[in-house]
Amino acid sequence: SLSNEELYERIATIKRELGDRLLILGHHYQQDEVVELADLRGDSYQLSQLAADSDDCRVIAFCGVHFMAETADILANRPEKLAERSGERVNVILPDMAAGCSMADMAAIEQIEDAWDELGEVIDTDDITPVTYINSAASLKAFVGRHGGIVCTSSNAKAALEWAFARRSRVMFFPDQHLGRNTSLGMDITNDQMPVWDPFASELGGNTEEALKQSKVILWKGHCSVHQMFRPEHVEMFREKHPGIKILVHPECPQDVFELADEYGSTGKIIQTVKNAPAGSKWAIGTELHLVNRLKQQHPEQEIHFLSPVVCMCATMYRIDLAHLAWSLENYRDGTPTNLIEVDDETAKWSLVALQRMLEVK
Ligand code: 13P
Ligand code: SF4
Repeated sequence: SLSNEELYERIATIKRELGDRLLILGHHYQQDEVVELADLRGDSYQLSQLAADSDDCRVIAFCGVHFMAETADILANRPEKLAERSGERVNVILPDMAAGCSMADMAAIEQIEDAWDELGEVIDTDDITPVTYINSAASLKAFVGRHGGIVCTSSNAKAALEWAFARRSRVMFFPDQHLGRNTSLGMDITNDQMPVWDPFASELGGNTEEALKQSKVILWKGHCSVHQMFRPEHVEMFREKHPGIKILVHPECPQDVFELADEYGSTGKIIQTVKNAPAGSKWAIGTELHLVNRLKQQHPEQEIHFLSPVVCMCATMYRIDLAHLAWSLENYRDGTPTNLIEVDDETAKWSLVALQRMLEVK
């Protein structure tokens, strides 16, 4: 097998050959060597914006996970952009098709449709704005678009919920119960009873009719396997051992950790928060390991710890490596593209409705 130096050189060669036609986007959770080769990097919101605004490129290599590549395809190939390019599509490549997101997989469209129908027997679903975290399949985003709802990311979840409540009296939030709960609790939503809909429960998602009728926010039983590993004991341990330390977490963390934290934010906001802090600041950060390690390297003037004694890394983000990136880019250059992510027209049309609302409420 090839060394990283050789792979790096092969990718750099393709970057020179394709010039502006190629845009490599990288999420902050990617490995360092991938981040180094990315033209632009960001959190989920920023990457969506970059894909939506990409004008010169004809191929996006998305170093992230499947739902992000789908979103890039929908935004980069929306009707208005296609018209500007006389119908020429932007190809979106996911270097390893097995790079999915376990949270997104917890909300299959069939489960959502069944839940919605069942819920409709108890409360009028015309009173509910469906909101989905961007970490979801395009089919779920399309469902949300069709039903007058909105997509959010971890950086605009509050604004998205405000948008939702300005329209209807209730919200159903998919698939991350933690982001949905943490965000709702920080808002002036009168009722803090938030039933969690379990798609595997035999009836009403495991809830009583009464609880559903009284609720303002219904959560979906999904979570991020990485962020749910951070525990309140970890926060307490750091506070005890390192007086003055600040706890900074991603809102995908469970409520008990989120509430103990000093600050929170999307990966983009976490990076910004550390960047703006004075030398000598002490942090324990609760988000994916690769990002925290990169922050440690970039900020030797601060003391940065990973908020868990065990390794919490996103195994699917990690699947994207130089070998897969080189292979998929070479296939593209040689006229035999592989790993293309192409959302069908009907799904793309309705997902776009919900995604455009997301881009408007920042
Ligand atoms: P952000 O990119 O919004 O910070 O979300 C993190 C994440 O888990 C992406 O899958
Ligand atoms: Fe999904 Fe969590 Fe990985 Fe993000 S970090 S891609 S939410 S599993």
